[in-house]
Amino acid sequence: MSGASARPSVAVVGGGIIGLSIAWRLARGGARVELFERGALAGEASHVAAGMLAPVSEADPAEPELLALGLESAERWASFAAELETDSDIRPQSLLDRTGTLLIARDADEGRWLEREADLRRAAGLECALLTPREARRLEPDLAPGLRGALHVPVDHAVDPRQVAVALAVAARGNGALLHDHAGPIEATDDPRLAGFDRIVIASGAWPVTGVAPAAATHPVKGQLLILRDPEHAQREEPIARHVLRAQTVYCVPRGDGRYVIGATMEHRGEDRTVTAWAVHDLLRELFEILPAAREFVLDEALAGLRPATTSGDPLIGPVPGDPAGDAARVLYAVGHYRGGVLLAPATADRIAALVLG
Ligand code: GLY
Repeated sequence: MSGASARPSVAVVGGGIIGLSIAWRLARGGARVELFERGALAGEASHVAAGMLAPVSEADPAEPELLALGLESAERWASFAAELETDSDIRPQSLLDRTGTLLIARDADEGRWLEREADLRRAAGLECALLTPREARRLEPDLAPGLRGALHVPVDHAVDPRQVAVALAVAARGNGALLHDHAGPIEATDDPRLAGFDRIVIASGAWPVTGVAPAAATHPVKGQLLILRDPEHAQREEPIARHVLRAQTVYCVPRGDGRYVIGATMEHRGEDRTVTAWAVHDLLRELFEILPAAREFVLDEALAGLRPATTSGDPLIGPVPGDPAGDAARVLYAVGHYRGGVLLAPATADRIAALVLG
């Protein structure tokens, strides 16, 4: 550990995609970094996340700051991935294939919902186009015949967060970061393991450090999802679906290799990570309504993860508001990424790196 030197020493608490991205960017920028992860690296929300880079599909124009952060981070993803490939020799595969997203309306009510969603996005200057059922099926021939229409969002796509996490760990270590996994919980910023570091970055997901200010406190929002696999994928000329497909209550994210991630529930149940029969039933029923060919898929995984949410619903990236030290605060936060951790990882890591490295 360096003390106050030109090469700051930083402890990162949390080894999910956010913590790993920060560790990599800081180490790449010349900081001495140690990361402490209570369990396996990227073993919680990052292992379960669908990986959608979907600032437009998930946009809430009533939240312009979050929308701007999402768009900025989506924009950064290409160079982030290119540098990650350079540092790790691993390319997050689905970035190679920017296929876009289709929001699907199943009936007349959802058709009206889709028109409202299109109007809101156009008013915010976001690129999207309403499609007739015939136009939607031209893009995705296996969509159910009875659908009402779709909204095409060309800029939204997805990455495989598990692959990204492996690449981040390789890249961080390659730049000299020490990653301590299975380190057990770090429950407060005065934990002896954090003593002596110039800066501490809390990126502990749904496991907040105790005693933090309310703006940095997070609570878990459970999401259950399924990973299905098309056993005929290798024999097909075209995959069953290429776009990310979203209806009001279900999404389907093609991984590009025959696997499809189907999500997700939204539940306030504390640290419960059980998979329930009703969730599996509902996700499959809703999926089959938009993509009936998925009935023949194999069920590979049924999972539950915890999205870390702040009370405000916005992430906190930087010092806690009101910290008298401002940007020079010893303890910085990268918490509360809720539904958008994978999307927001590049912007978050670069903001923290800018604060620490100047
Ligand atoms: N971002 C998708 C989800 O949280 O389910």
